[in-house]
Parts: sequence; structure tokens; C-alpha cells
Amino acid sequence: MEQPRNLHPFVAVHRHEGEIAHALLKQHLMLNSDLSPQEVENGKVAFPLIETATQDAVEACLQSVDMSPIFYTLEASIQPLVDPHRRLAKAVESWANHHAAATHADLLSSVPSKWERLGGLILLPADLSEQPSWLEVMNHPQCEDMWLGILDALKGDSLGIQAPIANDTFRSSQVNMLYGSSEVRFLDHGITYIFDAAKVMFSSGNVTERRRIGAISMEGETVIDAYAGVGYYTLPMLVHSQAAHVHACEINPASIAGLQAGAAANKVRECLTVHEGDNQVSLASLVGMADRCHLGLLPSSEPVWELAIKALKSQGGWLHVHMNVEEERIPSWMEATRNRFQAWADQHDLGFEVHNRHLERVKWFAPFVRHVVLDLECRRV
Ligand SMILES: C[S@@+](CC[C@H](N)C(=O)[O-])C[C@H]1O[C@@H](n2cnc3c(N)ncnc32)[C@H](O)[C@@H]1O
Repeated sequence: MEQPRNLHPFVAVHRHEGEIAHALLKQHLMLNSDLSPQEVENGKVAFPLIETATQDAVEACLQSVDMSPIFYTLEASIQPLVDPHRRLAKAVESWANHHAAATHADLLSSVPSKWERLGGLILLPADLSEQPSWLEVMNHPQCEDMWLGILDALKGDSLGIQAPIANDTFRSSQVNMLYGSSEVRFLDHGITYIFDAAKVMFSSGNVTERRRIGAISMEGETVIDAYAGVGYYTLPMLVHSQAAHVHACEINPASIAGLQAGAAANKVRECLTVHEGDNQVSLASLVGMADRCHLGLLPSSEPVWELAIKALKSQGGWLHVHMNVEEERIPSWMEATRNRFQAWADQHDLGFEVHNRHLERVKWFAPFVRHVVLDLECRRV
């Protein structure tokens, strides 16, 4: 016996009206975006309609541009879902249909609209952990089916939920893993980063700054990275800026493991010296050694500013000072910071004239508060 055919309602317009018809149908929520459009006779293109769209409603929607639509019932092919947001919504819906009758609507209305990807690790936003319907999923015996559905939708290997960066010295990551391993390895702008996302932070929001620093020529320079982490700046400075040598200060053993693995993967191991422990100690052993010192700690790297200027070579060099500053205070902060470094240069007879050369606004850290980087040049007079 013949199988029932997969028939659906379509509306066809002339090909040259296709684009506007598609936009209007989508805008009026009449387009069935699970199905593909089709070509029909006489150079017409037919768009799939949702089952509840009446002919009167479709005609009214297209009337504004004077089209003469023709209605069809056609056999339709399911369109592969290209939009990851829709794939994610489908995955959540499918799990909810099987396992969550009571919280079905809450789950569907709280499907995440954004997530972070670190290689194969997908990190869902932190606020999910506060939503009762998602807490129920996490405690459900079949939760793994949900995580696998999400990973399939977002093409990932492992899944976690973001949590705020810990306010400790290590700036530890507080990712809560839901499925798979927290070890990540990924390529960003030609550099391989390797680390355990459950143990160390990686600020994807600093991508523009990583690229800006990597675009500065440091050929032949000896550079200090006072807060190296897993190599967010150390690796671009070695690989792209062509620094001759980087002294990387880092206190967190988990970050050092990532930094060393990253240096090996990027074949820059011989150009890197890792100083494990407190940079108050390691910077004091690097006096007069550097052409440049990178000070990448938030909210502020102030405790090592004096040591950083003393670490520059006698002919001078550059300092890159990260800080969280209220937007309206940025100009006065720049001047005050320059003055403080100038005072240390004078106090220690370094013979430098300190100049503000550039202020980079990296990202909003909080309302009215910017993460900025001040580039200071210390020139020998
Ligand atoms: C904010 S993370 C680095 C982040 C990176 N610069 C970025 O913007 O993505 C700061 C790093 O500094 C390290 N750190 C903090 N205090 C330190 C200290 N006193 N001595 C050495 N390393 C320190 C932390 O362990 C952490 O890996």
C-alpha cells in the first residue's frame, strides 16, 4: 500500500518577488522555517507556511506589495537546521517533551540565547544555575540525555556552566562541568591555547586586546609578563610580536601547566622562562632586564607598578597597564598614573621621562566601569 505523503501548505510568488515575500511571511510569523522553499512552474518560488496560516491571512500579509500569490499543497523536504539557536531550542524541547511535563513551558522560555565556546567545551551562561526549571534538569536521572542533545545541537564535546571568576589571587575559574572533560585545547588567531577550564580563567572578552598586543612588533625584545596566566599575552607576544624572550610570572600551578603546554604546542618553549610564585619576588630578580613589561591583572596591578618600572632596561621601554576605571575618571586616572610612574623613575634615578602613548578601552567591566590598558613609554633622557 502507498505510504501517506508528507504534504504541507505553500504559497508561491514570482521569483523576482521572492525575497520580499519571504521577509513578509517571516515577519508575520507565517513562514514554516523547518521546511525548504521549492521551485514550482512558470518561474515561481513556493514558501512553506505554518499549518495555522489561513489563505486570507497570507493574502493580506502579501497585499501590501501587490503580489498575486498562488496556494499549493506540496510534498516537502525537511530543511537541515543551520541556526544553532534553533537547533538548541529543538534539543531542549525534545528533552522536555519526554522528561519535563511540569516545567516544559519554563524550560522552553529559558533556552540560552548565548554561550561561550572554548575549543570543544561549551559554556552555558551562569544565570541558568538560578532557574528552578534548569536546576530540576540538573537533578534529573536522565539529565545526560539533555546534555548530549545540547552538545549535538551546538557541535561540542563537553559542557559546563559559567560561574563568576573567583575573587582570589589566582582569579580561578568557577566553571561547573555538566558533561565531559574540562581540559581544553583550541586555536585562536593562529595560537594554540591549552588549559583546564575548571581551574583557570580565560577571558574571551579580551580578544581584541590579545590581537592588539600581538600586532605590536617586539622583535629582539626581552619582555616580562607579570601576570601570565595560561599565556593570553605571553603566547601572542612570542608568536606574533616576535619577542626574543618572555619572562612569565605566574603564581597558579594550574595556569603554569597550561602555559607550558601552550608554549610547547606553539614551539616557543626555548624563548620562555617561567617564574613560578609571587611576582613581588620574581620581578625583584628581574631589575634592569626588560624592554617591556605587561601588567595584565584586574581590577588593578598597582602592587607591582614600582617593581615593573625598575625592571625596564636602562635605555627605557614600555609598560602596558591594565586597570578597571570609571569611564568619567579615565583622563584624570591616566594623568595620575603617569605622574606616579614618573615619581618612581625620579626616586630611583632611572633617568626616564614617562609618556602616555595610548589608552585602549578593552571592554565594559561593569556599568560605567571600563577595563582599560594604558601604554606608557619610559624614554631615557
Ligand atoms: C587575570 S589572570 C590573567 C588574565 C589575562 N591577563 C587576561 O586578561 O585574560 C591573572 C593571572 O595572574 C596570576 N596572579 C595573580 N596574582 C599574582 C601574583 N602576585 N604573582 C604572580 N601571578 C599572579 C593569576 O594566577 C592569574 O593567572
